[in-house]
Amino acid sequence: MEHSVAFPFLPIGTVLRVFAPDSPQAHSIFNLGIVVTIILGTIFVLVGGAIVYALMRFRWREGEPDPDQLAGNKTVEIIWTLIPCAIVLALFLLTARTMGRSDPAPAPEPDLVVTGHQWWWEARYPKSGAVVANEIHIPVGNAFSVRLDSADVLHEFWVPELARKITAVPGHPNHLWIEADKPGTYLGVCSEFCGTEHAWMHFLVIAQSQAEFDAWQKAQLAPAATPVGDSAAKGLALFQQTSCVNCHAINGTSANAGVGPDLTHFASRRQLGAGIAENTRANLHRWLKDPQQVKPGVKMPDFKFTDEQVTQLVDYFETLK
Ligand code: CUA
Repeated sequence: MEHSVAFPFLPIGTVLRVFAPDSPQAHSIFNLGIVVTIILGTIFVLVGGAIVYALMRFRWREGEPDPDQLAGNKTVEIIWTLIPCAIVLALFLLTARTMGRSDPAPAPEPDLVVTGHQWWWEARYPKSGAVVANEIHIPVGNAFSVRLDSADVLHEFWVPELARKITAVPGHPNHLWIEADKPGTYLGVCSEFCGTEHAWMHFLVIAQSQAEFDAWQKAQLAPAATPVGDSAAKGLALFQQTSCVNCHAINGTSANAGVGPDLTHFASRRQLGAGIAENTRANLHRWLKDPQQVKPGVKMPDFKFTDEQVTQLVDYFETLK
């Protein structure tokens, strides 16, 4: 099985995206990184240059006496204590300023509650009640206060272009702000090893205009439509009769469990399996036929559905726009 991903996101590319900041929070971190690199680079060149100069100029030569030895010069001692102190103080002040800009105090009520699970992300919009998985939508230019939880082990929420990374700790909510300067699709990853499928715990942050965001949120709040076609209706019946309902929720049906992703608007999402494959009919078929083959270790077992049953389920899930 090849791991086809819809977007050209390579692991190294993810890291390099910190060099393309796209939010005020990420810009402040990027700017600090540049200033620190310049300061440290200058120190490296000056110290390295002095060492190389001394090596060349004062190296031992036949018949030459030792150079003058200097010790206990108070002025020199004071200067080379004060200069490093001033550099450390400057770095401290710049860092404190950046922390204030990139990570301000959380809002009293979060706009978004994100929960890390092995190995997917749940996102709830408490103000509207919308629930999604692995795909977070935000309005452009609008800072969202995010509360971060974990359902099981330590995870780490990181969207390199938009914000700092922050750990999801079970039983200890953490907070960050997420914002995007322009519309776009941003890759988020889990950056703390959390088990077998840690590498496939991707999510997308989709920044869109306020109007598009409002329309999206409204659509997510609607209950799932009852399928009309024969095959899709059989798929719904199968979904409700099997243990699918023990883990998943579909608003508008009897399924309301919260172990796995909410599937109410599954078909509106771009990827499945937390980024392991594009959300296409063929990939969904493969997933339902044997999730373990697509994403080994995933908590969803192989239900040994027949091809006909899988087709019915796919037909049903495709109605969940
Ligand atoms: Cu979750 Cu790594």
